[in-house]
Amino acid sequence: MHPALAAICSYLIELINMKLKSTISYLLVALVLLNACSVSKQNTAPTDIPSLKEVFKNDFLIGTALNISQIQEKDAVAAMLVPQQFNVVTAENVMKSVNMQPRWNDFNFKQADQFVKYATSRNLKIVGHTLVWHSQLPEYMKSMQSADSVRQFVANQITSIAGRYKDKIYSWDVVNEALNEDGSMRQSVFLKTLGYTYVVDAFKQTAVVSPKSELYYNDYNIEQPKKRFGCIALVKEIQAAGVKIDGVGIQGHWHLGKVPFKEIEESIIQYAALGLKVAITELDINVLPTKVDGADVNTRTKADAASNPYSSGLPDSVQKQLADDYTTLFKLFLKHKDKISRVTFWGVHDGQSWLNGWPIPGRTNYPLLFDRKGNPKPAFYSVIATQK
Ligand code: XIL
Repeated sequence: MHPALAAICSYLIELINMKLKSTISYLLVALVLLNACSVSKQNTAPTDIPSLKEVFKNDFLIGTALNISQIQEKDAVAAMLVPQQFNVVTAENVMKSVNMQPRWNDFNFKQADQFVKYATSRNLKIVGHTLVWHSQLPEYMKSMQSADSVRQFVANQITSIAGRYKDKIYSWDVVNEALNEDGSMRQSVFLKTLGYTYVVDAFKQTAVVSPKSELYYNDYNIEQPKKRFGCIALVKEIQAAGVKIDGVGIQGHWHLGKVPFKEIEESIIQYAALGLKVAITELDINVLPTKVDGADVNTRTKADAASNPYSSGLPDSVQKQLADDYTTLFKLFLKHKDKISRVTFWGVHDGQSWLNGWPIPGRTNYPLLFDRKGNPKPAFYSVIATQK
């Protein structure tokens, strides 16, 4: 074949090839778009529902914890619900020491900065969680024995983290979970090396570097009489030292049909009598069978045949009990709204709740007010109805 003809032929073949390729690409793009539309349609929460933050605006703040995919807006359901429903956010994990100070005095601010930026650009108040906690510690801290090093670690945490975000943080969980169930102090690396004063010192240091933030002591089960007694003693110690403490955070990881309403009410009254604000900081109601009482993140239990009963859906009777428990709780919160600063849910929707993975991994739990697609559950409407 003449070389010119051969060149023309191969040009034509190339052209047909390209055309074919681009048609295929168009088809692929269209398919992806179609799929994206149907996914986002399926996962987009409704826009025409009441707003918790509006309904309770004269009572207390309404908050949620945010995980990293929500902070980075990869969770379409949360992206829709967060600005619509909440006015305060807590970092579920990104501000914990394992993430903030993974190596000795070497801070990683990337995700915490993203969290603070996400919240400030949406006018959401920010809760810093948490500066001094025995769990989710960096590896090098767990067995540290030198008091000087532990003291330095705590001081670094407070100065570097609370200092960096000072004006932006509405409230800090300064110390988390320092108490045992019997009200005594937990034998943490902090207590063992620094003694009882570490709590007072942490509040004192945080007040210096972040003077505008409210300072809270946060714990689970501190509505239970013995632990409450220990918590009151701890608060009195801080107050007696002339150190600022604004409130206590009752975490509120409760169980379906077993929410301790009477003790919660008694605790709100007793903490308020100390001149403190009370926040419910990590509210969820676990609907699954569990042998664990409390919320120690280090506890793990084994799965058995009965441990994941609702993997294909929540029976109406359980849905109703959940709505009833939430109703009683919010009626109680409203009754004491003069003492309650904030009610924060530990997660936006059931699909991302930590209770799907704790204390048994891989379960299907339903502890929040929004389902996996972002639709409000009966419990959402019962909570709304408590505010008449
Ligand atoms: C939990 C988070 O929700 C999980 O994602 C993480 O794996 C473990 O910690 N008390 C607290 C919270 O103060 O920080 C814990 O959060 C739940 C119990």
